Amino acid sequence: MLIDSHCHLVNEDYNIDEIIEKAKENDVKYLIVSGSERDDNKLNIKLLDKYDNIFLSAGYHPSMASSVTEDDYNFLEKCLMNDRVVAVGEIGLDYHYGKEDMEEQKELFRRQLDLAKKYNKPVVIHTRDAFLDTYNILREYNLSGVIHCFSGSLEVAKQYLDLGYYLGIGGVVTFKNSKLKDVIKEIGLGRVVFETDSPYLSPIRGEKNEPGNVKLVCEFISDLLGLSFDEVANITSNNVINLFRLNIR
Ligand code: NI
Repeated sequence: MLIDSHCHLVNEDYNIDEIIEKAKENDVKYLIVSGSERDDNKLNIKLLDKYDNIFLSAGYHPSMASSVTEDDYNFLEKCLMNDRVVAVGEIGLDYHYGKEDMEEQKELFRRQLDLAKKYNKPVVIHTRDAFLDTYNILREYNLSGVIHCFSGSLEVAKQYLDLGYYLGIGGVVTFKNSKLKDVIKEIGLGRVVFETDSPYLSPIRGEKNEPGNVKLVCEFISDLLGLSFDEVANITSNNVINLFRLNIR
């Protein structure tokens, strides 16, 4: 059994019924659907009534730093009271497109980390060109979580692992020039979770990604480490279950 620990389904031109059916055919039995801004968090909550194999993480991506309102925070708190909202995310820091709103980003990040603490939920971290600030802020909080779409060096990986975090690995690892392969070989699977970040970052270039593609990532890692598919699937799915305390065993 596989789990897609991070995907986006709403606001895409997906037929969600079909996507979930195809995921099941590929043995991807559960999906954690991530929120990133005001509208998708609201739409995600509605998915819970319709699909029983979905969990959510709810939160505001750093791109919302200068537009987030108190109403948004109140809505997020309401989401976090739901047992099937298993994490706060994706949240974090993104300096790739500029640092002009760095202070607002940090404020948004910290307020959501406070909420994760208050509601006792793990966090799903988006970080881009912002390792030091991300690391230093996370170190202040004693939370568990995952570095979503991890793409750093072995040294950076080790620092997050030392903080107790998991690393989210998806289609990028299968790319020819990806250095992630060497990182995985070094660190092993003890704190790795699989994700697709659908519709982004497909392992098949030029295609729209979907949760069923976790299978391709699992196949790739099995070959890379010389382990059986089932063994890799079991280890990484158990990691997801433990991290997000999913009630599915
Ligand atoms: Ni994402």
